[in-house]
Amino acid sequence: MRVLVIGNGGREHALCWAIAGSPMLSKLYCAPGNPGIAAVAECVPIGVMDISELVIFAAENNIDLVIPGPEAPLVAGIADAMARADIACCGPSAAAAALEGSKTFTKEVADAAGIPTALWERFDDAAAARDFVSRRGAPLVVKADGLAAGKGVVVAMTEAEAQSAIADFMEAGTLGAAGAAVVIEEFLQGEEVSVFALCDGLTAISLGAAQDHKRVFDGDRGPNTGGMGAYSPPPCLPPALEAEIMTRFIRPTLAEMHRRGTPFRGILFAGLMLTADGPKLIEYNVRFGDPECQCLMLRLKSDLLGALVAACDGELGNYDLRWHERAAVAVVMAAAGYPEAPRPHTPIGSLAGAEAVADVKVFYAGTALLDGVLVSNGGRVLSVCATGASIASARASAYAGVDALAWADGFCRRDIAWRALASAG
Ligand code: AMP
Ligand code: GLY
Repeated sequence: MRVLVIGNGGREHALCWAIAGSPMLSKLYCAPGNPGIAAVAECVPIGVMDISELVIFAAENNIDLVIPGPEAPLVAGIADAMARADIACCGPSAAAAALEGSKTFTKEVADAAGIPTALWERFDDAAAARDFVSRRGAPLVVKADGLAAGKGVVVAMTEAEAQSAIADFMEAGTLGAAGAAVVIEEFLQGEEVSVFALCDGLTAISLGAAQDHKRVFDGDRGPNTGGMGAYSPPPCLPPALEAEIMTRFIRPTLAEMHRRGTPFRGILFAGLMLTADGPKLIEYNVRFGDPECQCLMLRLKSDLLGALVAACDGELGNYDLRWHERAAVAVVMAAAGYPEAPRPHTPIGSLAGAEAVADVKVFYAGTALLDGVLVSNGGRVLSVCATGASIASARASAYAGVDALAWADGFCRRDIAWRALASAG
């Protein structure tokens, strides 16, 4: 098979690394890729949102399967565009990608499918939203309806914070069209967990679960980021609870999407809160998480490519994935200044030293080669990952990998997986 992966992050490096080992693969491309991905795939300089160019490339190069990593091209209709050119694409149509692209849509689907989620209301009008907040009082969560690259959610512990989120999103237009409407919902308390499923439109199979760390600094302080680290499997999600999430959340969602005539195909990522009243859906994403994907790929024993093909062919009914009985931890190394203003183009040394640490695998994200030197080129730059017999041992190896790097301008959180270690006693 000739395969094209789309993206340039640590997630796409992990996907390419997993697919590169597939016995079904004959040629792997990645657009646009990065210097780490270049070791396992041929990188093609086409951006993730240049959909018509990606279709032309795929057609001209006889691509058998396209695998988009990030959400933006899916929400923009890359799967539909590939379908029109008769090219298989493992991802949802734009209509089905609304599960990530529109908070209101997700809430409507959840309600129709009887899925537990926070009570919510949608507002197109700032005055009505403000009035609702003053009637309900804090805490509340204010969410921009559209895609906002992680900046569209304000967990407001005070009424003033909620009011200022409404002013920013709906009046100042800080998020553009994405913030024109908001969903305001009940504040949920509990432990957050991410569950991944591979879907073929009718059937879903588990792709494992993980927990991540969104805040930039130790102790879950500082602004939100795309994710500073992750670990899998999450100790708070025993197998029976994971199975329950497949039965009570994922499968009813698939059935509802099918009933609406917009079947979901691809990776469905459920963000859940384990509350005192049981699990509740926080959000859906229509792709793998980054860096959760890195952990899942290190734990997956089965051939990923075969599974993705089965999802495209509607044949997951008899499919079964095998996993290594090991834990995985990913520690993200970011450039100083991330997330506001990551310092660009600082040299990174001793990658080989990090990868020489037993059980460590480094996936590249925002990196570039300048005159043959590997430099940072973005906010999240590397995910230093490791496997181990336990989360504690995987974490120790990952940090040994971090310590072997020579990158003065990089930083990471030092407390990745603290919850898992706390629960292990
Ligand atoms: P999202 O961008 O939708 O992933 O939301 C960002 C973060 O906001 C989530 O990871 C949660 O930590 C938090 N969050 C979202 N919705 C709620 C809610 N209803 N109650 C409490 N926290 C929430
Ligand atoms: N790490 C969270 C995400 O990919 O959305």
